[in-house]
Amino acid sequence: MEKIVVNGGKRLQGECSVQGSKNASLPIIGATMLTSGENVLHMCPKLRDTTTACEILQLLGCKTNWQDDALIINSRGLCNNEISKNLMNQMRSSIIFLGAILARCGEAKVYFPGGCDIGSRPIDLHIDALKKMGVSVNECGGQLDCKVDGDRMHGAEIFLSFPSVGATENILLAAVTAEGKTIINNAAVEPEIKDLCNYLNKCGAKVVGGGTQVIRIEGVDRLTPCEYTIMPDRIVAATLLCGVAATGGEVLLKSVNVSNLSSVLPVLSDMGCRIRIFGKSIFLKSKDFLVAPKQPIRTMPYPGFPTDLQPIMMALSCVVGGTTIFVETIFENRFRHVPELKRLGASIRVEGRVAVVEGCRELRGACVYGTDLRGGASLIVAALATAGRTEIFKLCYVDRGYEKIEDQFSKLGAYIFRL
Ligand code: UD1
Repeated sequence: MEKIVVNGGKRLQGECSVQGSKNASLPIIGATMLTSGENVLHMCPKLRDTTTACEILQLLGCKTNWQDDALIINSRGLCNNEISKNLMNQMRSSIIFLGAILARCGEAKVYFPGGCDIGSRPIDLHIDALKKMGVSVNECGGQLDCKVDGDRMHGAEIFLSFPSVGATENILLAAVTAEGKTIINNAAVEPEIKDLCNYLNKCGAKVVGGGTQVIRIEGVDRLTPCEYTIMPDRIVAATLLCGVAATGGEVLLKSVNVSNLSSVLPVLSDMGCRIRIFGKSIFLKSKDFLVAPKQPIRTMPYPGFPTDLQPIMMALSCVVGGTTIFVETIFENRFRHVPELKRLGASIRVEGRVAVVEGCRELRGACVYGTDLRGGASLIVAALATAGRTEIFKLCYVDRGYEKIEDQFSKLGAYIFRL
């Protein structure tokens, strides 16, 4: 079985840039379907999830190919409206293709999506909104048979009971070419939503308020393809910062949107890291021994602390002095990395949605298994701070979100390689 081997305990140091955002790329790849022509997406990360997204587009009749860091998608030939169960199972984001297929074809056959097992992850908000926009949905044996009543979906006023990222994206993709006006109230405000809206507007959509709680969309007849640069990945940026911090190192992280990390940098600072901002770069200098942050870390929708970073920050908190408390409010099953961190000698107690970490100076090397995407990344961060050899298995998860994570840390001097 493929594994990453880390001989930890080495102080990381150097400069690096951050890959394009996975969570911004996926809905934008889906959105290219609405343009019926050739789109060029720069800084699109080459990952398992973006490859799966390309396979979905190919299945639907689109052409995709990579040229260096750019993904080129021609959606003119789209002729199919069904996504196979196997592809739907590979990632949760497959569901955001539904709104776009319905907009383009008027009908869609998809399955309930798969993805990381971090909670129940229902799609009721997606389905309820599409129904309000004039879609009939028949559920049978895990399959969703969806059909637009009439020629086109129509705009609607939608109130999301929770600011779901995926539901906001799905509604956007359905609404930009729907008849009339759509308003999404209590929309997700994550930066990736704003990036999607910027792409859509560049294609000729009329979306106002992307990145705020109320998004207004005026449907247009068609979108035209465009060339677009995907935003940097804020979770990967923070993973690199946590990895360096855990080893007492220093790094200059280039091409980041610093404001997207406003809930993360204060935590690192509170732990004792020195942080300086230079335009789109962050300089972080850690110390031999950091301390636990004074406040509990509570995951919240943006601009709160991201749930995707909870496992990674937890890995760092294992090697700082004092007690760190994590409260996971977004997903009910997002502590699956805890038993693996414990194999490395971490002291963590979990009660429901709360985890209490007693930091210690040293972890010990062991064989550990990735449990989900960010859980896998947390094991790598912990391994970097571990004196001794750690072997990390089940890389299929971490490869969903990081472009060769071992190369990114090895550039900073880590002794890390894939076997
Ligand atoms: C996206 C991100 C994921 C991140 C999450 C929360 C992508 C590809 N994934 O996932 O990395 O962890 O946002 O920031 O962008 N919910 C419902 N009904 C629904 C939809 C969601 O109850 O129809 C609930 C979920 O169970 C969960 C919460 O809403 O408790 C947040 O989910 P959501 O924001 O939709 O996350 P994703 O879009 O799946």
